[in-house]
Amino acid sequence: MEQWTIQKLLDWMNGYFTEKTVDAPRLTAELLLCHVLGCQRIELYTNFDRVVDQARLARLRELVKRCAEHEPVAYLVGRCEFYSLAIKVNKSCLIPRPETELLVERAVDFLRARQTTAAVLDLCTGSGCVAIAIAKNVADCSLTATDVSDDALSIANANIKTHALAERIRLLCGDLFDPIVAGLDETGFDLIVSNPPYVSAAEFETLDKNVRDYEPRQALYGGIDGLDVYRRIAEKIDPFLKPDGALILEIGYAQGPAIRQLLEQTALFKNIKVEKDHSNNDRIVTAHKA
Ligand SMILES: C[S@@+](CC[C@H](N)C(=O)[O-])C[C@H]1O[C@@H](n2cnc3c(N)ncnc32)[C@H](O)[C@@H]1O
Repeated sequence: MEQWTIQKLLDWMNGYFTEKTVDAPRLTAELLLCHVLGCQRIELYTNFDRVVDQARLARLRELVKRCAEHEPVAYLVGRCEFYSLAIKVNKSCLIPRPETELLVERAVDFLRARQTTAAVLDLCTGSGCVAIAIAKNVADCSLTATDVSDDALSIANANIKTHALAERIRLLCGDLFDPIVAGLDETGFDLIVSNPPYVSAAEFETLDKNVRDYEPRQALYGGIDGLDVYRRIAEKIDPFLKPDGALILEIGYAQGPAIRQLLEQTALFKNIKVEKDHSNNDRIVTAHKA
C-alpha cells in the first residue's frame, strides 16, 4: 500500500488546491493537515517523513474534498486567528477578517487614552472576536455584545469561556440596541463599536463563492445600498452613548462618504474621521459625540 508522509501529502494537496483555484493552497494544506494530526504548523516541518495512518488519511480526504468545493478552511477546522487570538467559528458566524483588526486597534487606542473604567458596546458581535480582542487588550473595561443570531451567540459564548472573559463580557440576543434598557442596564457606553453587515445587493452577487455560499447572509447583506444597519445605528444611538463617548465602525471599501454624511445628519458627532486600510480602501469610521 502507498505510504503517505507529511511531506508527500503537503506537496500533493498544494498541487491539487492550486488546480482547484483554492486560495493560499500551501497554507490551506498545512492547516488541514495540522487539524487532522492535532499538531502545530512547525511540527509538520520537523516531522516531514512521518507516515500518516489510514484513519487520519480518511478524515483528511473528506476535508480536502470539501475544501476543493471552496468551503472555507476556517469552517473546516472550526477555528481561525484574530488579533493573535484563537477564535472558534462555525457556519452560524462570519469568519473574522484581518481588516477588522483595525477596528480593534482604534477601540484599544481610544480606551487606553481614556484611562478610566469604561463600558463598551459591541453591536453585531458574531463570533465575539471584536469584544474578546478589546477585553484582552484593555484591562479596565466591561463589555456588552449583541447579535440577532442565537447560533452566532452560542459560538461567541464558547469563545468568551475559552478566553476566560465571562466576568467581563455580557451577551444579549436581539436587534441592535433592543436588548439593552437605556438607563437601567447601563448609564451609557463610553464606546460603541460595530462591524455590521454592509454588503450591497449588487456586491452580494459578485462575492466569491466561498463567502456567498457558506457564510451567513445575515452577517453580510446590508440592504440594497449596504447601509441599512448604519442608518438604524445612527437613528438609535443617542441615548446609549455617553456625552463624551465615541462610535467606531467598520465600513465597506467605498462607503466612507455615505457614512460620513449619515453621521453628520444626526448632528450628534464631531471629529468624524474615515480611515483607510492597508489596501487603501475605506475601512474605519471614528466619530466623537459632540
Ligand atoms: C459582519 S458580521 C460581524 C461579526 C463580528 N463582529 C466580526 O467582526 O467578525 C455581522 C453580524 O451582525 C449580526 N446582525 C445582523 N443584523 C443584526 C441586527 N439587526 N442586530 C444585531 N446583530 C445583527 C449578524 O448575525 C452577524 O453576526
